[in-house]
Parts: sequence; C-alpha cells; structure tokens
Amino acid sequence: MKLFELADLRPRESLRFPLGRFEGFAVRDASGGIRAYLNVCPHRAQPVDIGDGRLWLTSGEIECQAHGARFDPATGACTGGPCLGRGLTRLGIEERDGAVWLLEPLQYR
Ligand code: FES
Repeated sequence: MKLFELADLRPRESLRFPLGRFEGFAVRDASGGIRAYLNVCPHRAQPVDIGDGRLWLTSGEIECQAHGARFDPATGACTGGPCLGRGLTRLGIEERDGAVWLLEPLQYR
C-alpha cells in the first residue's frame, strides 16, 4: 500500500496519511531517515499530529498537541509527559520508486 510521495516529506515537518479506519503520520529523524507511526497517542488515543505544524520541539522531540506527551522521532519511544513510558506504534515501511510504502498490514491492538 502506497502511503505518500517521498518529496512530500521535508525535514522538521510531518505528513499525515490515511490508514484504513485510522491515520498515520511520518517524520524524518535527525539522520534523514523516514519513520512512520499510527497517529494515535498512547495517552488518551487522540491524534499526535493534528497537522498544524507544531509537532516538533526545539529539543528534537515530537509532541502530542493534546496534553504534551513527548516522543523520540527516530523510535517513537516516550521521552516525557503523560505517555508514561508508552511509545508510539511504529509502522513498517520501505522507500521505493520515489514513494513510501506500508510493508505489512496494520496489526490493530
Ligand atoms: S492524548 Fe496525547 S498527550 Fe494526551
């Protein structure tokens, strides 16, 4: 399943995409690698990325806009705030033919 075109994701920005009955979002980590996550916060299941451009903190973390849970963009691990050690759900992806593709069906929990 094709998620988005590579050229549409710039450093220090994010990109949301449809994912069945859910939504995903993608970022580039500090090394330029693309990471994709389910756009559902482990705190209260609200969207982490609401698309207003405020996802990134100056520390290099990403922050849920609902209540301030912070995550490592490279791993999705909780780095502070109300996520209390629970990280983001990472999606298996690959870059191919100028686009990003979902590697495996999403395992709903
Ligand atoms: S839902 Fe993300 S911090 Fe509360």
